[in-house]
Amino acid sequence: MSSTASHHALLPQELIRLKRDSQPLPAEEINAFVQGIADDRISDAQIGAFTMAVFLNGMSREEVVALTTATRDSGHVMQWDSLNLPGPIVDKHSTGGVGDLVSLVLGPWVAACGAFVPMISGRGLGHTGGTLDKLESIPGYDPYPTPERFSDIVKSTGVAIIGQTGNLAPADKRIYGVRDVTATVESIPLITASILGKKLASGLDALVMDVKVGSGAFMPTPEKSRELAKSIANVATQAGTPTTALLTDMSQPLAPCAGNAVEIVETLALLRGERANSRVMQVTRELAVEMLIAGKLVTSREEALTKLEKALTSGAAAEVFSRMVRELGGPADFMERPDSYLATAPVIQAVHPEQGGIVQRIDTRAVGMSVVELGGGRLRNDASVDHSVGFSDIAEIGDRVDNQRPLAIVHARSEEAAARATAQLRAAMTLGEEAAVADTLLQDTFRGEA
Ligand code: URA
Repeated sequence: MSSTASHHALLPQELIRLKRDSQPLPAEEINAFVQGIADDRISDAQIGAFTMAVFLNGMSREEVVALTTATRDSGHVMQWDSLNLPGPIVDKHSTGGVGDLVSLVLGPWVAACGAFVPMISGRGLGHTGGTLDKLESIPGYDPYPTPERFSDIVKSTGVAIIGQTGNLAPADKRIYGVRDVTATVESIPLITASILGKKLASGLDALVMDVKVGSGAFMPTPEKSRELAKSIANVATQAGTPTTALLTDMSQPLAPCAGNAVEIVETLALLRGERANSRVMQVTRELAVEMLIAGKLVTSREEALTKLEKALTSGAAAEVFSRMVRELGGPADFMERPDSYLATAPVIQAVHPEQGGIVQRIDTRAVGMSVVELGGGRLRNDASVDHSVGFSDIAEIGDRVDNQRPLAIVHARSEEAAARATAQLRAAMTLGEEAAVADTLLQDTFRGEA
C-alpha cells in the first residue's frame, strides 16, 4: 500500500466504481469508507450502491478482513488487559435458532472452568429467539449495566450476558439498516463483516461460532451455512481472534421448548446437570470444548471434557449463573425458587396430533414464527415480549405422538391464541409411519486459518 493512500482516500464513488468493476479494494480505502459511514460523511445511497456491488461481485478474503476490522474499529473496542484477568476472554456467537438456549448454559459453564465471557447478546430476530428476551423473563435482570459495571461483573463472576450499547460498531448499524431495505442482506462477505465487526469489538482472545443448518437456520441451504462457517472462522482468525466455527443441526428445535420463561426453566435444569446428554447439551458441550481449547485453558479434548464434567456436577456452573443473575439485578434466590419469579401463561394445554404417528420432519422456522405470534417475539421492533408464552415438551424427530403423547404443550395468553398455535404446530410437524432419525447434530468443524 502506498503511504499516500491513507492521506488521499478515494472519493466514495470511486471506491464503489472499483467494486462495481470487480477491481480489488485496498484495505486502507475500505477503512476510510467505513470510517466515513460511521461519521455520516457517506450517504445511504452510497452505502446501498456499495453493498449491492459487493452482493453481486463478492469480496476477496483480504477485503472481508479489512471490512471486518474497519467495522470493529468504527466504535468502542473493549480492552481487558488492564484488569489482568487470570484467564482468557472468550465468547460464542450463533446464527440463531429455535429452542437455542445454548448461550445461557455455555457462558456460566466455561466461566466456571476459568474463562471470562463478556457476552453481548441480541433480541429475537425473525423466527429465532433472543438470549436477551429470555433473560428478561427474570424479574429485575438489567441487561444494560454501565461499561464499568459490566467489566466488574465479568471480572468477579466470569460471565455477564448483556445487550448491545450505543457505540459498538456504529458503522454496522448504518450498513445493516441500508442492507435491510436494498435486498443486500444475503451476502456472505457482508454477513461475515457484520457479525464479526460487532463481536470482535468485545476484545476477545478467542471466539467460537455456531452456524446452524436445517429448516430453522438463518442461511437458506446447507451449502451456504457451510460457506458462512468457513468465512467466519478464517476472517476472524485473520483479523487476530482465533476462531472455530461449528456447523450444527437446526432441523428441529434444539431444546424441547421454545419461548422465553420456558427456556429459562430448561436452562436451570440443564445447569443442575439434568439431561446431560440431551441434544442441546451435546451442542453446548462441543462449543465449550472448543472455547476451552482456543482459550488455552486445556490442551486436549479429553482434558476439556473432564473439566466441564466437574464444573457441572459440582454445581459450579449453576452457581456462576446464579451469581450473574444477582449481579445484574435479578433475585438472589432465583435458582432456588424460579417458580415464584417466572411468569406463567393463563392457558397451558397439550397439543395432540389429529392422527397419531412418528415425527418425520419439523418446519422449525414455522415453530419459531408460531412462538412469535403467541407474543413470545416481536412483529414490530418496538413491541414488547410476553415472557410466559411458547411451547414446552416439544416432541423430537423419531418420537411417536398420539392422543397420549402430545406434539408439545402450548403456553398462551388466551384460548384463541392457543387454538391458532395448535393448528400451526400440527402443520409444522410431518408425521408418518416409518422410523425417523434426526440429522447429525455436529456436522462439521472449521478451525480458522491464519
Ligand atoms: N446478523 C448480523 O448481525 N448481521 C448480518 O448481516 C446477518 C445476521
